[in-house]
Amino acid sequence: MAHSPLENDIEHVLLTEEALGQRLDEIARQIETDYADKDLLIVGVLKGALMVVADLSRRLAIPLTMDWMAVSSYGSGTKSSGVVRILKDLDADLLDRHVLVVEDIIDSGLTLSWLVANLRSRGPASVEIATMLRKPDAAKVDVDVRYVGFDIPNEFVVGYGLDYDERYRNLPYVGTLKPSVYGGDQ
Ligand code: PRP
Repeated sequence: MAHSPLENDIEHVLLTEEALGQRLDEIARQIETDYADKDLLIVGVLKGALMVVADLSRRLAIPLTMDWMAVSSYGSGTKSSGVVRILKDLDADLLDRHVLVVEDIIDSGLTLSWLVANLRSRGPASVEIATMLRKPDAAKVDVDVRYVGFDIPNEFVVGYGLDYDERYRNLPYVGTLKPSVYGGDQ
């Protein structure tokens, strides 16, 4: 099979587009049941959650609204710093709303732990979390996550919203990069 210039940089595919879609189908059914009688507000955390929100929300056959937040959690490189800054805040008022925060990945958990505390201070009826990926071995703080797509090993992954130096977000699957892409071995 011929590889595109983008795919040439991928070492191996961890989760195919099909696997991601099937898991989102399952999670969507759970969310529909859990929020059947509730006024659901989905909060996507930019930029990584773009794909998950788009694909999950299209699978939800219940009324909902969407809003977006942009936060900066990484100080430099690929390590979480724990320092979170709001780059773009929500437009919505959270008072008495049922908020579902949607993330692409939970790594150390520092971003979400801070974010959930911040959102809870705004008087919502509830705040829950859905994430496509989670790295249990990278956790620095416990975060109570209601919906998890996949637990994955503690390795750097790209695609399906996840970037390396702002690239690879548009890959439809999740994979690892060849070391040569980092300017390293090979
Ligand atoms: C990623 C991801 C989470 C956070 C997870 O965002 O989308 O928000 O890191 O890491 P943590 O659990 O260690 O805090 P990033 O800061 O890379 O921004 P992006 O979504 O714009 O790529």
